[in-house]
Amino acid sequence: MAGNLRHFLKLRDLAPAEARALLDRAIALKRDPQTNRRPLTGRNLAMVFAKSSTRTRVSFEVGMAKLGGHAVMLPTAQTQLGREEPLADTARVLSRYCDAIMIRNDSQADQEELARHAGVPVINGLSESHHPCQLLADMQTWLEHRGDPGGKVAAWIGDGNNVCNSWIEASALFGFRLRVATPHQYRPDAAALAYAGRAVRLYDDPRAAAAGADLIVTDTFTSMGREAERAERIQILSAFQVDARTMAAAKADALFMHCLPAHRGEEVTAEVIDGPHSVVWDEAENRMWAQMALLEFLLCPAATSSPSPFA
Ligand code: CP
Ligand code: NVA
Repeated sequence: MAGNLRHFLKLRDLAPAEARALLDRAIALKRDPQTNRRPLTGRNLAMVFAKSSTRTRVSFEVGMAKLGGHAVMLPTAQTQLGREEPLADTARVLSRYCDAIMIRNDSQADQEELARHAGVPVINGLSESHHPCQLLADMQTWLEHRGDPGGKVAAWIGDGNNVCNSWIEASALFGFRLRVATPHQYRPDAAALAYAGRAVRLYDDPRAAAAGADLIVTDTFTSMGREAERAERIQILSAFQVDARTMAAAKADALFMHCLPAHRGEEVTAEVIDGPHSVVWDEAENRMWAQMALLEFLLCPAATSSPSPFA
């Protein structure tokens, strides 16, 4: 195994300067796709999916193609992982064919197990507790629309889920304050909160969290794997719906973000997600540019140096 092997299982796997350089590179790639000279020609990405995906799958597959490489789709049910081949053995085998492994599954611990036995970088494409690739895209989107997030205020309103945990890590990494409004049953991960420290404050009242915020963000009330709890969750979380009154409490030019897929009428009203504050389509697009920068960073760091467009 290479001594300098890097994985991306949580946002905090990046140092603040690395994260910022990666976003600058993502923006440079988006502005001028010719800057990328296909640095991943001949390289291959294994994409292991134990859960559904639209954005993550397509953005990684097309991103690899744009960089000159190739992606192999591996739905776990169609692999021997689905028949209980150990993760460690799968990691060893995929590392003999591929240059990186992206995995979307339930268990962060399983991703860490995969990474321990892989000879190539492992990327978290979503687990039950983190969604770091989403946050690269979200931070790129915030930077593009409003400049450096440093010193600004974001409010997460809804379920304290995997995306929320990665937002919490982002607050420490990018230097903004995050208010997290959730019902007490659905608080975020204690380890992510401990990592972020004073950057994050918990709220019971969503309107108080939104007051004067630069950005409002939410996600589904029912994450993948929690479908059996859907009715109970909608009942408990309904007071945390992001609606026009939530946006009116925030700054006049506040952004609205959502990782998608969205459920209009549940966590957000159609008026907000389809309205003037919403940047959700830019977020979705930026999944691809940010992950292209991540793949370059992990597989050929020399390609990533781009002057900051915001310098
Ligand atoms: N936001 C996100 O990860 O979308 P998919 O589930 O479609 O990949
Ligand atoms: N929190 C959601 C995110 C989907 C991209 C889930 O885990 O299903």
